[in-house]
Amino acid sequence: MNTYATVVLAAGKGTRMRSTLPKVLHPLAGMPLLGHVLNAVEAIPSSDPLASYVAPTTIHRPVVVLGHDAAHVEAVFGQRCLYALQAEQLGTGHAVLAARPVVDELDPLPQTILVCYGDTPLISRETLARVLVEHLAHKATITFLTAHTEAPSDYGRVVRNADGCVQAIVEVKRATEEQKRISEVNSGVYCFDRAWLWAALDSLPRNPAGEYYLTDLIGIASSQDRVIATVTGTLEETIGINDRVQLAAAEQLLRRRILEQHMYAGVTIIDPSTTYIDAGVAIGTDTVILPGTMITGKTCIGSDCRIGPGTTIDQSAIGDRCVIRNSALEETTLEEGVSIGPFSHCRPGDVRMGNFAEVKNSYIGAETDMHHFSYLGDATVGEHVNIGAGTVTVNYDGIRKLRTTIGDGAFIGSDTMLVAPVAVGEHAQTGAGSVVRHDVPPGAVVVGVPARILRMRMPQPQPDEGPTTEGSEKV
Ligand code: UD1
Ligand code: CA
Repeated sequence: MNTYATVVLAAGKGTRMRSTLPKVLHPLAGMPLLGHVLNAVEAIPSSDPLASYVAPTTIHRPVVVLGHDAAHVEAVFGQRCLYALQAEQLGTGHAVLAARPVVDELDPLPQTILVCYGDTPLISRETLARVLVEHLAHKATITFLTAHTEAPSDYGRVVRNADGCVQAIVEVKRATEEQKRISEVNSGVYCFDRAWLWAALDSLPRNPAGEYYLTDLIGIASSQDRVIATVTGTLEETIGINDRVQLAAAEQLLRRRILEQHMYAGVTIIDPSTTYIDAGVAIGTDTVILPGTMITGKTCIGSDCRIGPGTTIDQSAIGDRCVIRNSALEETTLEEGVSIGPFSHCRPGDVRMGNFAEVKNSYIGAETDMHHFSYLGDATVGEHVNIGAGTVTVNYDGIRKLRTTIGDGAFIGSDTMLVAPVAVGEHAQTGAGSVVRHDVPPGAVVVGVPARILRMRMPQPQPDEGPTTEGSEKV
């Protein structure tokens, strides 16, 4: 039976990033670099190349080699991976050797080891699977992924003989001028025969740079006349992130890819160049995204919505047929058909609101209007309520945050101050400019500072209809 294990190298500090954050934790489209690589690795079994390969294969959880700030990376990915520690970063060959004790514990023991780097986040499951399938098909000792580029920059160069057989990978630091002009580069994805790999790594000498390069194994295998196979991919997919310029380049490529996936799936994106959508976002069909919009985190947007322009939505669930203009939403849940904005800010909680309105930790019922310049904090508002312009819940007494309750059908006049804790009963009404310090009975009309009952707008409910100001402390 063909069995394989994956080793992901992520121990390097990422010196060229000039950051206190480990390189593989830098976010790309809202997800750490290593998260993208793990997604691809975990999806190999479901990829077309492997699915069509008839020989049975088994997989294990990826073995991630950590070093610099290992505890931090481990805390982020937890049980998703197995971990090996490379205490001192002495090169990529040394890093693979650090994984040996963990790999040798695996049951069944893998015949093949797929190695990839934690800093190549755009790698796809198909390409990883292609390398694996080629390796198995050729019964090779090493199979690795290459790419052709006019600007080979700091990638290792693939040296071939006159017959086209691979002889070595030469790192740019040690390459001759002629070798530097080679346009075929090493993408950093390899399959190795495990037994050969351990033996070769044991005998791998330290190179003049003081490191053990995984890439030197190619020259060793070539000198032993071993079967070395290659698979060619695109450089776009195997871009390695060594510095923040490459991080931005990868971000641009990935964002374009994400936008295209949404567009092919039925989402209209008016201006892809000013639209930013994170990797974990889901959007329903026939939704239109207008320019200047950023949708981040685990956000889910329904169908037939109109989002933007100038809108940010983070970690939110938006129902079908919502319209959100020039607004900021965080951890917000919107039911179907809700209209937000322009210029609204929704903080965690369920809301429905209009211009220059802010809602925090509140629930607002269906058909309630809250059109302009108002603030609802820590409030529960029923259905069919009108919140007049300038209404403010005075929810903070300097020490505690206090709740306001507004019953169904209440009419809150413009510029009402609702001094919490306070409850306004069903169908009650407050006059413009009232300062409501005491609970308002259902159906009452209150006015003034402090607000007093002027008259009853509607008959009081009978006692057996139950309390309508539940949860309030004053009557
Ligand atoms: C490496 C390859 C190069 C290839 C390029 C593709 C080597 C020697 N060179 O160069 O041929 O073209 O990737 O992107 O392999 N790491 C460890 N421990 C270490 C050193 C590195 O775990 O001691 C990890 C890093 O965290 C990183 C990965 O290995 O995720 C690659 O290391 P890096 O230093 O970025 O190699 P490159 O110079 O990019
Ligand atoms: Ca790199």
